[in-house]
Amino acid sequence: MRKRLMVTGAGGFVAGSIIQDAVNGWEVHGVSRSPAPVEMSNLVWHQLPEVDADCLHDVFHDIEPDALIHTAALADIDFCEANKELAEQVNTTLTRELAELCEDHDTRVVFLSTDTVFDGERGLYTEDDPPHPVNFYGTTKVRAEEAVASVGGNAVIARVALVMGLPVLGAGNSFVSRMIATLEAGKNATAPSNEVRSPVDVFTLGRALVELAGNDFLGRIHLSGNDVLNRYDMMLRIAARLGYAPDRIIAQDPSGIPGRAPRPRDVSLSNAKARAVLQTPMAGLDEGLELVLASRK
Ligand SMILES: NC(=O)c1ccc[n+]([C@@H]2O[C@H](COP(=O)([O-])OP(=O)(O)OC[C@H]3O[C@@H](n4cnc5c(N)ncnc54)[C@H](OP(=O)(O)O)[C@@H]3O)[C@@H](O)[C@H]2O)c1
Repeated sequence: MRKRLMVTGAGGFVAGSIIQDAVNGWEVHGVSRSPAPVEMSNLVWHQLPEVDADCLHDVFHDIEPDALIHTAALADIDFCEANKELAEQVNTTLTRELAELCEDHDTRVVFLSTDTVFDGERGLYTEDDPPHPVNFYGTTKVRAEEAVASVGGNAVIARVALVMGLPVLGAGNSFVSRMIATLEAGKNATAPSNEVRSPVDVFTLGRALVELAGNDFLGRIHLSGNDVLNRYDMMLRIAARLGYAPDRIIAQDPSGIPGRAPRPRDVSLSNAKARAVLQTPMAGLDEGLELVLASRK
């Protein structure tokens, strides 16, 4: 019999890749506020009217998962800055509730944190560097990491770098989709030249997270790509691969835009630990882009 994997935020960007990979070996239970975007064998969809602690308790007890990948979050940095109470509730409190449920039921939990836990003053952060977020989204994730660590148990804190790709099953938070939509509408796309990241493609990330759900690694791990570059250079390379002229991508310093929360300068992550402990090979930008474009419908 297959083991059961519960995935929260199942309608989101990263969850789509997790689910597509996981149905090969697990009985996957997607938990979402949205209807199932597809029907697949080995996928059971649980649509909830809202994702609060009570609903999560009920659905957790229905599923009785062997492992949980917790992707659900408010991941829009500016929205979190403007809606702190809600951001704390969704990103921190729900994570703590789920970590406690997992600990009580001997369920392995993989929690998705972020590179934005760091202040970006240095770059190439390792798992042992102390977090120091510059915005409230990062703060909610640091608090969630602390909650997961203090609950203990069979837990992984996966710090995810900027995710590069197109939605795999549903929709969600894809900067490549937004860039393509802008360019296809005949407008130029803007990109910050002062934000350095180590992007991970959505397929490698999904595979790595599913591997972590099934192995015995414990603690913090950074899931990032092999290349470090600023977001403008990243967009230029993606646009070129898609056949757009370089002058369609405009470098911008967005720090003064009203309502924009502070961003860390360089939150590139060292993926040395991931390369040492995972069988999933970490990819560079071009390799990741090939995976993404090969799956483009
Ligand atoms: N994308 C990135 O570049 C990136 C980088 C670092 C870390 N991360 C982390 O990776 C995880 C997945 O991110 P993503 O890019 O896939 O984001 P996403 O596309 O926005 O998906 C997040 C999902 O969380 C659920 N969610 C949103 N608001 C909610 C609320 N108020 N209550 C309950 N659930 C809610 C939604 O799932 P349903 O629609 O299914 O309900 C949503 O689709 C997040 O934890 C994010 O912080 C992402």
